[in-house]
Amino acid sequence: MRSLAYVAISVQLFVGLQCQSLPAKVKKCHYGDGKCLVESANALLRNFPKGIPEVNLKPFNVLPVRDWLLVNDSQVGGAWYFFELLNQINYGFENTTITEIRGFDKDPTATRIEIHGKIPRLVYKGDYLAKGRMLWFVDINSHGTSESDFLNFRFDLTLKVRIEYRNNKRYLKIYELVPNIRLDRWIMWLDNFFPDNEDLTIAINNLFNRNWVEFWNELEPGILSLFETVFLSLFEDLFEKVPYDDLFLADEDSK
Ligand SMILES: *[C@@H]1O[C@H](CO)[C@@H](O)[C@H](O)[C@H]1NC(C)=O
Ligand SMILES: *[C@@H]1O[C@H](CO)[C@@H](O)[C@H](O)[C@H]1NC(C)=O
Repeated sequence: MRSLAYVAISVQLFVGLQCQSLPAKVKKCHYGDGKCLVESANALLRNFPKGIPEVNLKPFNVLPVRDWLLVNDSQVGGAWYFFELLNQINYGFENTTITEIRGFDKDPTATRIEIHGKIPRLVYKGDYLAKGRMLWFVDINSHGTSESDFLNFRFDLTLKVRIEYRNNKRYLKIYELVPNIRLDRWIMWLDNFFPDNEDLTIAINNLFNRNWVEFWNELEPGILSLFETVFLSLFEDLFEKVPYDDLFLADEDSK
């Protein structure tokens, strides 16, 4: 049994040392061929909603999100607010349509990398923790489940990258990702917001949903930072695992 385990470990090590490459089903493109990259990315989203574990591509359909402190006012005065999202799961990336890709040249640092796309409905489900004081007299101290729906969610991502060498191979490292987001509507529901008063809970949720634009404007910087980590987590592992040049056709290859 022991030698069997040894063989198993050696095989694993051997496989682990091999460079990972994309499955043949993913169509490769020439460097900088934005049109081809858009088609290939969309085919990948359609064909692999559950990701590609061999190349560290996470599932698009169910993506756990790290806990996020969205509001943390200093707790003084008549009105302050603390709001944290916990155990959140992101649903809906599998329905993304990539509309434009720029950059990804042979020298990926030569031109700006941009990825544009849209998602009909992006959903966040999980728990929340809220504390605060509203209107000088209502104290809030609640936790429960939350659901957020972002409808017709459009994103533009701008990436700054550098190249790292490992075993004489070039790997792409993203050191900055700036998201820009537009949406048609944000629907949110916080369960149990006033634990003792269901009517008030409904009223505050309705208030939020009627005035979502104001809340979006107020919270946008924090939400953008959250999306930055979410988008990064979607593809940084892929670039970590697969050498940059293995993602593209060599110059002499035809399409
Ligand atoms: C919220 O901000 C205060 C300072 O303003 C800080 O002491 C506290 O640690 C922050 N809370 C969390 C959970 O980071
Ligand atoms: C993604 O699209 C499928 C098929 O149209 C749909 O059933 C699913 O609900 C969508 N996902 C989300 C989160 O809306």
